[in-house]
Amino acid sequence: MTKKMLIAGNWKMNGSLAANEALVKALVAGAAAPACEIAVCVPAPYLAQVQSLVAGSPIALGAQDVSTQAQGAFTGEQSAVMLREFGVRYAIVGHSERRQYHGETDEVVAAKTAAALANGITPIVCVGETLAQREAGATEEVVKRQLAAVIHVNGHCISEIVVAYEPVWAIGTGKTATPEQAQAVHAVLRAQLHHAASDHAAGIRILYGGSMNAANAAELLAQADIDGGLIGGASLKAADFLQIIAAAR
Ligand code: 13P
Repeated sequence: MTKKMLIAGNWKMNGSLAANEALVKALVAGAAAPACEIAVCVPAPYLAQVQSLVAGSPIALGAQDVSTQAQGAFTGEQSAVMLREFGVRYAIVGHSERRQYHGETDEVVAAKTAAALANGITPIVCVGETLAQREAGATEEVVKRQLAAVIHVNGHCISEIVVAYEPVWAIGTGKTATPEQAQAVHAVLRAQLHHAASDHAAGIRILYGGSMNAANAAELLAQADIDGGLIGGASLKAADFLQIIAAAR
């Protein structure tokens, strides 16, 4: 297998100049020769700070969102062109918190994916069901619909995306999906990607996210179709994040 795992931290709306410096310095020192790829997706105001902190290290810089638009009257938005200026390599798109609190539809997520791809930023496309949807037996249908919208608009370069399966009920709850539950959904997503990109589907990374931590990472990452992690809370603690990185081989 040539593809390396990707361990990406999603800091969400956390951090400060002082805390970021301590965290990233510890990560740079602790992850000198990682077996996996590493990214930190930081709040927009800290992109410049973290860009210089990770310079020359194996840690890539990521953003947590990207505008569908290139420039103009879109107050509060950041374009992919701007993110590129700060060396951003990854952008999370369609995180469930953006779908839930900012009304992002599947179509908006597909357009954000396109905007990132058009500017050489790898989108980390998040999909995932709520607890109610899982209990109603709708998990497959929901994640397939979310991914289908992205494939519909970006089919020609779908092999360039990263997918993150994040069951909403597992995010920030300490209630992680079991490795079997996660693998089952990852296999569904892999099959859908295979349909869209045949030969390339095996090389597309599908990350798991949702209460992944130092204790459960190895077991999750051992699943056949889990190619890395998108980590929230545990990415804010250097020792925990470094343990997850060490488990990704
Ligand atoms: P937690 O790891 O805090 O559950 O967050 C997961 C997540 O939403 C990453 O994007």
